[in-house]
Amino acid sequence: MSKLYHIALLPGDGIGPEIADQAKLVLDALAPLFDLEFKYSEGLLGGVAIDETGDPFPQETQHLVANCDAVLLAAIGGPKWDTVDPDKPRPEQGLLGLRKSLGAYANLRPVRIFDALSGASPLRPERLEGVDMLIVRELTGGLYFGKRERFYDLEGAGSNGKTGQRAYDTMDYYEYEVERIARVAFDAARTRSQKVHSIDKANVIESSRMWREIVHRVAADYPDIELIDMLVDNTAMQLISRPSQFDVLVMENMFGDILSDEASMLTGSLGMLASASLGDGIGLYEPSHGSAPRIAGQGVANPLAMILSAEMMLRYSFEEFAAADALAQAIDAVLQAGWRTRDIAGEKTPAEQVVGTSAMGNLIAEHLTK
Ligand code: IPM
Ligand code: MG
Repeated sequence: MSKLYHIALLPGDGIGPEIADQAKLVLDALAPLFDLEFKYSEGLLGGVAIDETGDPFPQETQHLVANCDAVLLAAIGGPKWDTVDPDKPRPEQGLLGLRKSLGAYANLRPVRIFDALSGASPLRPERLEGVDMLIVRELTGGLYFGKRERFYDLEGAGSNGKTGQRAYDTMDYYEYEVERIARVAFDAARTRSQKVHSIDKANVIESSRMWREIVHRVAADYPDIELIDMLVDNTAMQLISRPSQFDVLVMENMFGDILSDEASMLTGSLGMLASASLGDGIGLYEPSHGSAPRIAGQGVANPLAMILSAEMMLRYSFEEFAAADALAQAIDAVLQAGWRTRDIAGEKTPAEQVVGTSAMGNLIAEHLTK
């Protein structure tokens, strides 16, 4: 009997449905080879969910994600739902609600250079030698979830009588939140090259000073791991100037959002950056990129971050390592053979090897079954 896994599939908005289809295609090609069976239940999240139900994370989806083996999410958001009106629902609220409801506090974003793609990065290939890092982004705390408010300050107290709008967000962390994400980073470092960079802004902000103190305390349990503190602004610079010094990087939510987009360019494209969002319960797998509304519906989006996220699902949630390895090899082989989506095509890529979303999915599926 084959092993059955129940996947909650959330295609979302923009290019989401196109890349979700390719993940499904590839998983279904993989399944019979490893005696697996995948059952998908699709749910609404983000903009489509707002359109159909008024809620970016509707009840049915909440039920679905609580009753599956893993959640595979494509992308959400788009200009159609962009609003600065605090009373209108936004697609992003659906995503944040999903992450919070799963308790998915640890977002792992591997930044790995595919040999075949070293020419696709805006950085010179020699800078990319030895680049292989794992960004561990705290995902359910900090600015994204802290107290916030926007209001009319009619008295202008504290601002020399200047009245007008006022708004604030709070970077709020509890000790346990820092402690558990630090452990994720140190544990990951044990399986890699025994080094953790902890990123903060401890020279200015209080939550970072607490972060640094707690990370150092946790480090005492990991004497085999080297811990290096680095300020976030310096890290932004070092990611470009000397990216190969990094292995595991751990940071709070918003720093991780920003630095992971930056780091993705080392791989050549944001379309290559997968992610796993893990916690105490069901795992969530989502590419690090957004819904790319400008190219939605054109069949040109790169499905690899999505397919690589499915690979992470096979590893982390299902522990189907042989299947995950086979998928990783198939992706490598297709890239080695010269196939590219538009975003990762170089000047030297022959036009006939620049392919669309579904062709890329098909090439990987074919490689698996051949
Ligand atoms: C990401 C995305 C999301 C985030 C958006 C879509 C809310 O940018 O996963 O990095 O900011 O976390
Ligand atoms: Mg982001």
